[in-house]
Amino acid sequence: MQDDKINPLSQKVDDLVSDHQQTDDHTGWFDVLYRNASGNPEQIPWARMQPHPCLKNWLETVEIINKKALVIGCGLGDDSEILAQKGAKVTAFDIAPSSIEWCKKRFPNSSVDYLVADLLKLAPSWKNSFDLIFESRTIQALPLKIRAEVIEAIATLLKPRGTLLIVTHLRETKDSPDGPPWPVSEEELSQLSNYGYEEIARTPYISPNLPSIQQALIEYQRNL
Ligand SMILES: C[S@@+](CC[C@H](N)C(=O)[O-])C[C@H]1O[C@@H](n2cnc3c(N)ncnc32)[C@H](O)[C@@H]1O
Repeated sequence: MQDDKINPLSQKVDDLVSDHQQTDDHTGWFDVLYRNASGNPEQIPWARMQPHPCLKNWLETVEIINKKALVIGCGLGDDSEILAQKGAKVTAFDIAPSSIEWCKKRFPNSSVDYLVADLLKLAPSWKNSFDLIFESRTIQALPLKIRAEVIEAIATLLKPRGTLLIVTHLRETKDSPDGPPWPVSEEELSQLSNYGYEEIARTPYISPNLPSIQQALIEYQRNL
């Protein structure tokens, strides 16, 4: 799964995913995985225990002091923490209560507001309210059948003139990939233009673990 499809955790993740999919539950397996890891990040395939390198590089080029930032599907919290260290007022949420518990344990003195929440069931008051949104590998962790809903949920959270950063695996075909992860296509990303998003920059990324997979950090600005 994710950046480590080739490691021995893959089978465990695939089994968990297929168990949950039998009841059309696309997200329940995340909490089971975090809980069963019992604090060992080696049991979380996507855990890096450091911010994403593309986010680190991007942050060298911008000023985000006092920006209202949101991290979607924050996992173990490293990306949220670097945004807070750079001066943003950060809210970070994840659907898995065990991941949020883990973040709070790792960063007890953090200024980040860590919350358990479902991207698809956020309070309407969150809409159009963030200056900066960071989403890393959450879209691709959810199946294609709910992709349009997921992208819409993300798109409506940003203020006009705000910045959205997406880190994702990319796929070139319309065909449904064998996942998870389910890499994102250009056609799916183009849905963002319906909400006033314009692509500003795209930085390709090669993971040392998965050199053959196309990945990128994509920066968007919302124009309306
Ligand atoms: C592949 S992990 C990536 C975690 C982190 N963003 C990273 O890059 O290390 C996907 C994360 O999204 C969370 N997630 C999945 N569906 C979600 C939803 N509907 N709402 C909020 N979080 C969700 C999962 O619990 C998991 O922590």
